[in-house]
Amino acid sequence: MDSFKALRCHAADKGVDARVEQMHADELSEGSVLIRAAWSGINFKDALAVTGTGKIMRGMPLNAGIDVAGTVETSEDPRFRPGEPVLVTGCGLGEARDGGFAEFTRVPADSVVPMPEGWDARQVMAVGTAGFTAAMALVRMEQNGQHPDLGPILVNGASGGVGSYAIRLFHRAGYQVTALTGKADAADYLRGLGANETLLTGDQDLGKRPLEKPLWGGAVDSLGGEQLTWLTRTVQPWGNIGAVGLAAGIELNTTVLPFILRGVSLLGINSVECARDLRLAVWRRVEELLEPTDVETVVTDEVDLEGVLPAAEELLQRKRHGRTLVRISS
Ligand SMILES: NC(=O)c1ccc[n+]([C@@H]2O[C@H](COP(=O)([O-])OP(=O)(O)OC[C@H]3O[C@@H](n4cnc5c(N)ncnc54)[C@H](OP(=O)(O)O)[C@@H]3O)[C@@H](O)[C@H]2O)c1
Repeated sequence: MDSFKALRCHAADKGVDARVEQMHADELSEGSVLIRAAWSGINFKDALAVTGTGKIMRGMPLNAGIDVAGTVETSEDPRFRPGEPVLVTGCGLGEARDGGFAEFTRVPADSVVPMPEGWDARQVMAVGTAGFTAAMALVRMEQNGQHPDLGPILVNGASGGVGSYAIRLFHRAGYQVTALTGKADAADYLRGLGANETLLTGDQDLGKRPLEKPLWGGAVDSLGGEQLTWLTRTVQPWGNIGAVGLAAGIELNTTVLPFILRGVSLLGINSVECARDLRLAVWRRVEELLEPTDVETVVTDEVDLEGVLPAAEELLQRKRHGRTLVRISS
């Protein structure tokens, strides 16, 4: 095979030097399935990785990108045939092994998910880790008794990738959704996704008491820090909080009272490493709730490999909303 293009990250004095360069298949991480990539997308973690803002990669040089979709080029595993459309999200891509911002990616067969019926590579990458994570929060919360009668679901970081899909998926599953955003101009976008109400970060009194008036049936938290603390104090008895992210911080200063007096559950969401059965069940829930064309509302930009770094910088500056796709080959 000829050389191919990859967005490869190298250790540098300033942290990370991410550049598009040519490489060969024998330089890729080990694995039994070689994927010819068509599309990927930029997640918060990718933005941290390629800009060097967060220590995401466990070793360099490494190709960035935690998601990829394309077709099987070769497979040593009988479950996959050359030409078959597939996708991979998480599973160490772009962190512990070469990731999806490259024309080819080699992965272990157990991480490969067959393309959902009726979907294409661009559409599943519009969902990507962001949508998969939001769907995992829905699945885990419902497994733990969440239902629309408990009250509205609060989604924070609402205009981001996870937030956008959390709004869309909970709306489609029959819930009232309140979107909390830091972007004053995002209300129309969020209502278009299915939010019944939008709130602006900073307009709420977060309170100080261990238990405040219950406001939410449940919540999907992309932020951590004081926002997550506030949610533990304001979720209804027996409601669930999907703890997804850390965009605002990693601290959580709460008490045991929401858990022992209200039966609130804080559910951990890990989209990177999860049992294959759960992974496939989450993708089935995505297929049940979304039409492939639904994703267009969430896609706000497309870039090529050269465009990933500038887009990642803007994402961290909160100048982007929805999902930015990465076109790798047509
Ligand atoms: N647990 C998992 O497996 C998993 C999977 C995917 C993502 N995540 C995490 O989930 C979070 C969201 O990921 P994403 O891909 O959706 O990112 P994203 O597209 O950048 O969205 C994050 C959103 O959070 C808000 N935000 C960003 N920085 C903030 C800050 N400093 N203070 C308050 N709000 C801030 C912004 O929304 P508004 O402007 O609308 O407020 C932003 O659009 C990240 O922390 C990511 O690492 C975790």
